[in-house]
Amino acid sequence: MCGIVGYVGPQNATDVVIEGLRRLEYRGYDSAGLSVRRPEGHVTLKRSGKLKNLEDALEATPLAGAHAIGHTRWATHGPPTDRNAHPHVTEDTRVALIHNGIIENHQALRERLNGAGHVFTSDTDSEVLVHLIEEAYDGDLSDAVRAALRQVEGAYAVVVSHADHDELVVARMTSPLVLGYGEGETFVASDVPAILKHTRRVSYLQDGQVATLRPAGIQATDLEGHPQELEIDTIDWDLEAAEKGGWPHFMLKEIYEQPQVLVNTLSDRLSQSTGDANLNLTLDPSAIDRIVIVAAGTASYAGEVGRTLLERWARIPTTVEVASEFRYANPIVDARTLVVAVSQSGETIDTLEAVREGIRHGARSLAILNSKGSSISREVDDIIDIHAGPEIGVASTKAYVAMVTVFAMLALHFGRARGALSLEEGQDRVAELKRLPNLVADALEGRPAIAAAARSLAEARSVLYLGRGVHVASAKEGALKLKEISYVHAEAFPTGEMKHGPIALIDAAVPTVAVATDGPLTGKTASNLQEIKARGGRVFAIATRGADGLDGAADVRLDVPPVEDALAPVVVAVPLQLLAYEASVALGRDVDQPRNLAKSVTVE
Ligand code: G6P
Repeated sequence: MCGIVGYVGPQNATDVVIEGLRRLEYRGYDSAGLSVRRPEGHVTLKRSGKLKNLEDALEATPLAGAHAIGHTRWATHGPPTDRNAHPHVTEDTRVALIHNGIIENHQALRERLNGAGHVFTSDTDSEVLVHLIEEAYDGDLSDAVRAALRQVEGAYAVVVSHADHDELVVARMTSPLVLGYGEGETFVASDVPAILKHTRRVSYLQDGQVATLRPAGIQATDLEGHPQELEIDTIDWDLEAAEKGGWPHFMLKEIYEQPQVLVNTLSDRLSQSTGDANLNLTLDPSAIDRIVIVAAGTASYAGEVGRTLLERWARIPTTVEVASEFRYANPIVDARTLVVAVSQSGETIDTLEAVREGIRHGARSLAILNSKGSSISREVDDIIDIHAGPEIGVASTKAYVAMVTVFAMLALHFGRARGALSLEEGQDRVAELKRLPNLVADALEGRPAIAAAARSLAEARSVLYLGRGVHVASAKEGALKLKEISYVHAEAFPTGEMKHGPIALIDAAVPTVAVATDGPLTGKTASNLQEIKARGGRVFAIATRGADGLDGAADVRLDVPPVEDALAPVVVAVPLQLLAYEASVALGRDVDQPRNLAKSVTVE
């Protein structure tokens, strides 16, 4: 969602904030704004569209000041216009505020404030906060912020500046904020990359905490004003990991990082001698009867592969629930259910609330995450870090393959612990898992043929993605990738369902991508693909190199190296990602920042 950056210290505050915002643009980007504090009031500049528009405006009107706050917006209430962009500022310009989240009772508050003479200048829910703070202000900014926040319901990360003080007051409820400590300067941002150039020492603000940032340091309280300790963490990755480094797009860089990511994901977690994975869990695998996986978007498709792995290898009944549904479904879970939350960011509000719902019902909880210190990480009994490194491209790639690989290790571990896998079976799977980095590197070699196929997809009216078994999930993920970054309509179906309806869509302008790696049902898949060809449909098949079970049923074959069926989604992810990438490039789309999407969705 929205990106937030604030700075207090001796550097040029505008430069620090704009540079930080550039690194957060992946979060949301339909407008941007900046306020600089001066003793006489705030000077504010806002522009709809990409951050570049704000940067151009700043070039014409440079803004210097002692401290600054800046924001990139992903619109929820009110269209992405200049006036709805943040910061929101009081009429006398003495208070300026940026907000990420949604204030749910904003309508009632706005009516009351209007009645008391406050003049609103935007359509946003956020603006009520600035008027509430103005109303409560009596010389102490953090007192005023706490008093204002006690009146609001909803989610927020806010940063507030007042012309009277050389400080920023920040607060969090559900939406993330990270605080940074420099020498004689302090920082606040939605995410680490925004401030990593300046400091590695950070604190993750907790729900209900309010902190005051001054050049000399940071102090925190709860909403009532009771002092709170802030834990300081050290970031152990480098800024280069969050930079393009010569690649044309983050997405392509992240696709090519996958072999190394898998090395990191597997790291020293596998044991050939015991045929097991050590995941450092507190959970006793015999203490559960079933597993419910909750996630959104790509993470939920990783969860669908995970279900197959857990059922095949560990024989534990497993379901996958879309997080936004599960949280309101009054789910049937108990103390012998393990709820697994899967999330790259660890901040997706639907997934966070879904796992909370499971915990409220007494379930055990585990999270598969890519972000230390994230909201979800603080709620669960156990965490498995996927070690994918920062993922910046909005379309998830390396996080997906790392999530699937973690599920494979989890299934292996549960399978061994519960006796569903013998020592020898465990050892075979360990050996196969260790091959994954090389297999993915091999699959990347297929890019030229994939690029040619992608050009056909770019011209399609719609694309159908098919798969059987574990590849039903691969097909869904492939279709999502294409939709997200090329805006070509795509749908996924289990291959056998094709003849029950979707086949009516087939014609020369509706090609099919069939994920059809070699397996016991290849013959059936071949027949289904022939049915498509017989109706004038073109078939692109992702197939196993050297396997001939498809028997000429594909017009174009995109081959991947052979691999154990349950792990094949990791390998076929590569051509699926590259098909979407190359189609997006062929259509001239914005690969890394596709329209309407945000990487980290912290609102419902
Ligand atoms: C958003 C992104 C998707 C992502 C999903 C879940 O919708 O656009 O790419 O898969 O959120 O994100 P998470 O951080 O929870 O994995």
